[in-house]
Amino acid sequence: MSESLLERSSARSSEHEQLLQVQDLKTYFPTPRGLVKAVDGVSFELERGKTLGIVGESGSGKSVLSRSIMRLLPRKTELHGQVMFDGRDLTNMKQAELRDVWGAEIAMVFQDPMTSLNPVMRIGPQITESIRHHLGVNKAEARETAIALLTSVGIPEPIRRLKEYPHQLSGGMRQRVTIAIALACGPRLLIADEPTTALDVTVQAQILDLLKVQQSERFMGMILVTHDLGVVAGRTDDIAVMYAGKIVEQAPTDELFADVKMPYTEALLQSIPRLSNHSHTRLQSIKGRPPDLVNLPKGCRFAARCPYVQDKCLAEEPPLIPITGKPDHLYRCWFPVGTAAGEAALESNRAAGKIDHEIDPAAAGEIIA
Ligand SMILES: Nc1ncnc2c1ncn2[C@@H]1O[C@H](COP(=O)(O)OP(=O)(O)O)[C@@H](O)[C@H]1O
Ligand SMILES: [Mg+2]
Repeated sequence: MSESLLERSSARSSEHEQLLQVQDLKTYFPTPRGLVKAVDGVSFELERGKTLGIVGESGSGKSVLSRSIMRLLPRKTELHGQVMFDGRDLTNMKQAELRDVWGAEIAMVFQDPMTSLNPVMRIGPQITESIRHHLGVNKAEARETAIALLTSVGIPEPIRRLKEYPHQLSGGMRQRVTIAIALACGPRLLIADEPTTALDVTVQAQILDLLKVQQSERFMGMILVTHDLGVVAGRTDDIAVMYAGKIVEQAPTDELFADVKMPYTEALLQSIPRLSNHSHTRLQSIKGRPPDLVNLPKGCRFAARCPYVQDKCLAEEPPLIPITGKPDHLYRCWFPVGTAAGEAALESNRAAGKIDHEIDPAAAGEIIA
């Protein structure tokens, strides 16, 4: 084989590894106040069998992004860009085709299990209906599959559970049931949107570990959406940090924690509860509020809240660019954390008395440890 042919075939096979390619996705909601730019030019790729964490404060556009991939949006929404799933563009697929993709190929798990469970229907039929619809098996086979699924998501006495209603289960058990339903048809992509935010801390870890085990055993692609960087640490291959509808930093998980570049990511790290904090020390939440998505600022969207802010940040929006020598670590900042320019910017603001709390450089290290 000639070199160019070899090159071409390896390029093609690596293309096939991509399960999901999101290209310049924009989701705008027309409202009486104007166009709400909830997702504003997001691009990323997800390989088969890999996990991507999408992290950002409340309101940063994580759920709208997830729903845009699934096309679960209000009718008048403006959607631009491309969502290639296994070689097909979901953004221009007909409703009927989409219905075959939902559940069977892409499944979602939401924050509140009660929104996806039917409160007046027993657990059994809620699982078997979807199995029978998508897989075309008979009642007895569907029941066997349901029992196996409930077992695999760690529900004790699954046969008894089939006859129960959602309200008879604890929050954690209900979320296990919605995960079982999501897995029922063997999806290739699972989108979990804050799947543990409503649960107790101890149950959270169990559910996150369950998702991780199922994802890797089934070689699914998984998008794990959360406001908590601590949730994705150690559980994802890559992380994309979102702010005001855009990705502001993106990197392999270990790389991100080792070398944070975007002040917003640094601020998110400061707001994770840590063992070394005394139980009565207050968590540092990021000061200020995200910008109005109808009237976005001209420069960097984080500038108004950023301890590194300089005049340039207010005037010009930084592009999403890679670190020199690290093509898979992207960031959007003029004065990045840990660089000479960043340190000087921070120092000048500190000297001018514009920073009223100290940034703790140990935060990232403790999260990985
Ligand atoms: N249907 C809608 N119409 C107008 N604005 C919306 C609509 N849905 C979401 N938004 C706005 O889009 C922004 C992003 O929301 P969301 O994706 O839910 O944030 P996150 O999941 O990161 O907390 C928010 O400002 C929210 O108010
Ligand atoms: Mg959300």
